[in-house]
Amino acid sequence: MELSRRTVIAGAAAAGIAATAAGGTAHATGGRKPVKELFGKLADGTKVYRWSLENGGTRMKVLSYGGIVQSLEIPDRRGRYENVSLGFDNLDDYVASSPYMGALIGRYGNRIDKGRFTLDGKQYQISVNDGENTLHGGAQGFDKRVWDVEPFAEGSEVGLVMHYTSVDGEMGYPGTLKAKVTYTLTREGDWRIDYEATTDKATVVNLTSHVYWNLAGEGSGTIEDHELSIAASRYTPTDEGLIPTGELAKVAGTAFDFRRAKPVGRDIRAAHPQLITAKGFDHNWVLDKGITSRPEHIATLRDPSSGRTLRIATDQPGLQFYSGNFLDGTLTGTGGRTYRQGDALCLETQHFPDSPNQPSFPSTVLRPGQTYRTTTVHSFDA
Ligand code: GLA
Repeated sequence: MELSRRTVIAGAAAAGIAATAAGGTAHATGGRKPVKELFGKLADGTKVYRWSLENGGTRMKVLSYGGIVQSLEIPDRRGRYENVSLGFDNLDDYVASSPYMGALIGRYGNRIDKGRFTLDGKQYQISVNDGENTLHGGAQGFDKRVWDVEPFAEGSEVGLVMHYTSVDGEMGYPGTLKAKVTYTLTREGDWRIDYEATTDKATVVNLTSHVYWNLAGEGSGTIEDHELSIAASRYTPTDEGLIPTGELAKVAGTAFDFRRAKPVGRDIRAAHPQLITAKGFDHNWVLDKGITSRPEHIATLRDPSSGRTLRIATDQPGLQFYSGNFLDGTLTGTGGRTYRQGDALCLETQHFPDSPNQPSFPSTVLRPGQTYRTTTVHSFDA
């Protein structure tokens, strides 16, 4: 299956012909530089642009605000395109009330207990925005910043290089952090994210991407029938504030066992205290492969109805699987439909939550002279 779609689309791209799809429109793929249009203006007048890029049968729209993936279109097994990423059709909704939809997350993805940590003997208090804890960087994380975006088309790849400088003390974090994130669409239609960062003072870093996936199409209903597998024998249970207790619990014999693909909804109503606290899955899986020098395959998500399949490879040690528990019908998405609980799920490659306070977890400290580098690849198929 995988080979056939890849061969067909990549072949069409290479030959410069339109990859025509039953029920879809003909679109040439490959090689073209991303194009930019004005998307909106922030309250202070800052212009936000939207970039459109396409390669290998994958189409994406990305905002300079938060590096947000506003839409990501891939074909189903009959070649029909659908936007499989939740989002909004206007900037105001992203600014007012987006639960990180499609956004880049930093400086520290996921939670930090009470927004406090000690580094080299010094205590830091960072912005608290999730009850008494910090979530996804604080009140104004990287998802709410305007990034400098440079398009490229090189060889068979097209993409965007995005820069953001987070000054010393921003949201309470020490050190000026220079972040560079590259989105690449490969000739096979893979979406690769390369993250890089440097600092001038010791700090903590954990960058990730917060796409809400629904492979049947955004706004099409629940993802409970999507089949998911995660190559992890353990996960990090949490307290009521979703802060890891420090334990690496076995998934075996529990609802958390996704080592073999199963529908997301199969065990989501199990009377497991962790599922009750989190209102579903909202946990970090400890990837069996650990930290690797190259991205390795760690998770597969498949929508049986359309055949659309997402495979994720990363060099990171953890994966936050969030089953869209807090979507409550109050947000209206790109296609005009409201988003309810379980209408999408997130698969966030990352270091473990609260690592700055958990000495037994892999370190998230970045020091001057070091370069933070990590890569996650999303491959699509039908
Ligand atoms: C992350 C968290 C969730 C939730 C969402 C945004 O995935 O783990 O608890 O906060 O972001 O709503």
